[in-house]
Amino acid sequence: MKILVTGAAGYIGSHTVLELLEAGHDVVAVDNLCNSSRESLRRVEALTGRSVPFVEADIRDESAMRAVLTGAPGRAGPDAAGDVAESPESAGATVPAGDFEAVIHFAGLKAVGESTEQPLAYYENNVGGTIALLRAMDAAGVRRMIFSSSATVYGDPVAVPIPETAPVGSPSNPYGYSKLMIEQILRDLAAADPRWSVALLRYFNPVGAHPSGRIGEDPRGIPNNLVPFISQVAVGRREALSVFGDDYPTPDGTGVRDYIHVVDLARGHLAALGHTKPNCRIWNLGTGRGYSVYEAVAAFEKASGQKIPVRVAPRRPGDIATCYADPTRARDELGWQAEHDLDAMMRDAWNWQQQNPDGYGEQ
Ligand code: NAD
Ligand code: UD1
Repeated sequence: MKILVTGAAGYIGSHTVLELLEAGHDVVAVDNLCNSSRESLRRVEALTGRSVPFVEADIRDESAMRAVLTGAPGRAGPDAAGDVAESPESAGATVPAGDFEAVIHFAGLKAVGESTEQPLAYYENNVGGTIALLRAMDAAGVRRMIFSSSATVYGDPVAVPIPETAPVGSPSNPYGYSKLMIEQILRDLAAADPRWSVALLRYFNPVGAHPSGRIGEDPRGIPNNLVPFISQVAVGRREALSVFGDDYPTPDGTGVRDYIHVVDLARGHLAALGHTKPNCRIWNLGTGRGYSVYEAVAAFEKASGQKIPVRVAPRRPGDIATCYADPTRARDELGWQAEHDLDAMMRDAWNWQQQNPDGYGEQ
């Protein structure tokens, strides 16, 4: 299949592009590089021996998206002029025109704290950008979308494990609301026009890296999420992990989450590509097992042989006690389930961090 991947240079995008190429799909990558490096896709090319045509463009730029999707003349990026197929941004590979069968849509802003400070930027980028992309897809006759949603839409769950039929809750921040809004827009679109096929994938907590250690998560600034923070402590970039609360109603008092290896998550997208009916469907992508912060730290210490200093800090606003998936639907309908355990997630996170102590750096 020929697939357009937005946000392709990012953490989950780059791992998914690699899996798509290895499965024999053709990929065109779009990213504005606001939270990623061009280097990730160069490494995917090196790992797979295949080229990844790259268009540096913003999904909010509807005409650029339309140009990419149709291969018609148009603007493909801030510096690009003329034919998309000849865009100077597609260094190393020509961008083949048209004939896309699906769009896998990762592009978006994802920093929860930042979203509370800059709600308009989040709604504009995530919701506005998705609408522009959908308009361009409609115009190009490409009506198949796989969307990166999040378990955050469940809010504080009424029960765990969480099935897709659980009520969506009240996310505690604009980022979470942007995901809920996009889900609703996609549901409405699919209801209005049966030609659309939409997969809403609700990710739990993606962690780890490709086992080669060549691509991985490269957060800018101080990491918000647990595993990147632990990794940076292990590699000497941070002193100690702050454990955000040890008084939750969980076995050891710390928050429990469903960590999922990013390679398993990436493969979930390939499984979703193989499913076409009904025209809008939600799937949880998680393992179905929850681990506490202390359990995650212990697994990382085992994988790395490094002691991780921890100190207990106050709860983080908006955090919940426990969150893990019921992944049965994805197993039954997509034939997909997570294969990597927590030890493998931590081993691969450490392998990436050790090989790339400064992430992709200034490449
Ligand atoms: P990421 O920041 O590494 O990747 C997102 C990519 O989108 C980046 O490369 C960024 O440069 C690009 N981008 C952002 N806005 C853009 C725009 N307007 N036009 C073009 N490109 C743009 O994040 P990730 O962890 O890979 O997440 C991918 C998707 O999955 C996001 O939509 C995120 O909200 C969602 N998600 C992530 C997690 C997680 O824990 N990582 C959990 C649930 C859902
Ligand atoms: C966070 C986001 C959520 C997003 C998800 C996936 C918040 C409030 N929620 O969820 O919207 O969908 O990431 O990327 O940011 N922890 C520490 N110390 C740290 C970091 C985390 O103790 O330095 C704890 C947290 O309190 C939590 C667990 O580790 O119990 C996991 O945290 P994190 O990796 O940030 O993921 P989520 O909180 O699940």
